[in-house]
Amino acid sequence: MKRTVIASLAGAAISLAIWLAPEGRSSIHARPSQALMAPVVEEQADTAAQPALAGLVSRGAYLARAGNCMGCHTARAGDGAAGRPYAGGHILATSIGTFVTPNITPDTETGIGGWSEEDFWQALNAGKSRNGAPLYPAFPYTDYTKVTREDANAIFAYLQSLPPVVQHNAPNRIDFPFNFRPLLYIWRALYFTQGVYRPASGESDEWNRGAYLVQGLGHCNACHTTRNPLGASQGNVLGGGQIMGSNWYAPSLTSFQEVSTADWTIPEIMRLLKTGLSSRAVTTGPMASVISDSLQHLTDADARAMAVYLKSLPPGAPYSRGAAPALTEEVDKQLRRGGEIYETHCLDCHGNFGQGQPGVYPALAGNRGITLASPINAIRSILNGGYAPVTASNPRPYGMPPFAQILPDEEIALVLSYIRNAWGNRGSMVTAVQVDRSRKGAQ
Ligand code: HEC
Ligand code: HEC
Ligand code: HEC
Repeated sequence: MKRTVIASLAGAAISLAIWLAPEGRSSIHARPSQALMAPVVEEQADTAAQPALAGLVSRGAYLARAGNCMGCHTARAGDGAAGRPYAGGHILATSIGTFVTPNITPDTETGIGGWSEEDFWQALNAGKSRNGAPLYPAFPYTDYTKVTREDANAIFAYLQSLPPVVQHNAPNRIDFPFNFRPLLYIWRALYFTQGVYRPASGESDEWNRGAYLVQGLGHCNACHTTRNPLGASQGNVLGGGQIMGSNWYAPSLTSFQEVSTADWTIPEIMRLLKTGLSSRAVTTGPMASVISDSLQHLTDADARAMAVYLKSLPPGAPYSRGAAPALTEEVDKQLRRGGEIYETHCLDCHGNFGQGQPGVYPALAGNRGITLASPINAIRSILNGGYAPVTASNPRPYGMPPFAQILPDEEIALVLSYIRNAWGNRGSMVTAVQVDRSRKGAQ
């Protein structure tokens, strides 16, 4: 009897499909990022400790940006109503239920005002709440565990310097049996490796800084790695994966067929990280939010360090792009129809030869984001439209109009099959069923 209980609890833990819902998924439209000033501290008592505290707080503000804490801990229009920064209430939908992020402003009743530095360290490094309860890995502590104590203290000092906001957030709505928190002990035993980043000897300081940021605060792995049904990363680190519970695929950062940057120059990678634009690609969707909210604020030194590390990632296993179709008469007919739809609806912006217009409309020819084996991102772009990230250097990016109301599933499938196979692109045909699935799942 006891054994069956244990077995079924273990079974439930085994199917504990948790993942890190992307912070940006609820809004595909870029929104102007809120200016988050380092709080003013000079008005306070002029003790010798003040400059040190001000320095700590502004360092913490910077690090909180690098970790995009605000992205998840702030409610936005899609959550019902926009809320105050860091007061929580952002909704993360997952297949085990819905998380409502907590208030991490220093309000004592509804936020983390009563927390000590040590309590905060336990959350970031060990994934435990103040009362010792294990936290769900929808909070990416599996990555944040790599953050040093010094940096964690700075983030804490910054959060404690914010104006306290009284905001009660709705509780998580997690399905039975996953709402039984102690199951997380089993999950943690299987999948959580606690520990601060340890610099690799033999690598430069710059490389180690980049690795620290990418693997830790940047939590790139939270989206860019395949997760097993337990919500734990598997396969190649940064090897690409569908963001579970969403219609976005975060491509492999190690595969040349996907979005490896190993053959890019360092300035090109830095530009992509800070603006979302490059001569080869435009970022969109959740990645655009990551850039608007977080990466654009990195110092050049940190963006360069990240670029050095990303460029050095060893190539992962090659990915299949999805077989390009054999040119049967039927396929030829479909591609022709796709070409006609392209001429009517897309050519004005994306050009006769899919060449786009530099800095304004992305090229579709040679665009790796379009020929990915999984067409879900491209389907999503065509259905919902989108924007490149809003950044200081590109405050009003050009937009792609949504076609969900203009073109039926079949025509979206045809035009997408066409752009996946025109101008030297090669990719599998897309079906109306795939578009329909995305339309139903898209929010
Ligand atoms: C991908 C979304 C996401 C990001 C990014 C994120 N958090 Fe969270 N955080 C959550 C969720 C969800 C929870 C609640 C988890 C639970 O209920 O077990 C949480 C919980 C917490 C808690 C525990 C609060 C409590 O009352 O127990 C703290 C502290 C916290 N986060 C701080 C941070 C900091 C600091 C950062 C940035 C370095 C950050 N979070 C980034 C989603 C996120
Ligand atoms: C919230 C989920 C999420 C996080 C966190 C995230 N990414 Fe992404 N990323 C995506 C998605 C989805 C795409 C595909 C859409 C696109 O190409 O813009 C993407 C695309 C990319 C691309 C290809 C851009 C292009 O257009 O060629 C690069 C490079 C990249 N991410 C790097 C990173 C790095 C580095 C980090 C960590 C600092 C990171 N990402 C964190 C979701 C995420
Ligand atoms: C008014 C100009 C305009 C029209 C018309 C237009 N697009 Fe776009 N398109 C854009 C812009 C701007 C972007 C970049 C937006 C972004 O990053 O989200 C874009 C992005 C895309 C992307 C994503 C590219 C990437 O690198 O991630 C695809 C796919 C795409 N368009 C296909 C189409 C198709 C197919 C049509 C016709 C049905 C079309 N577009 C019509 C302006 C346009």
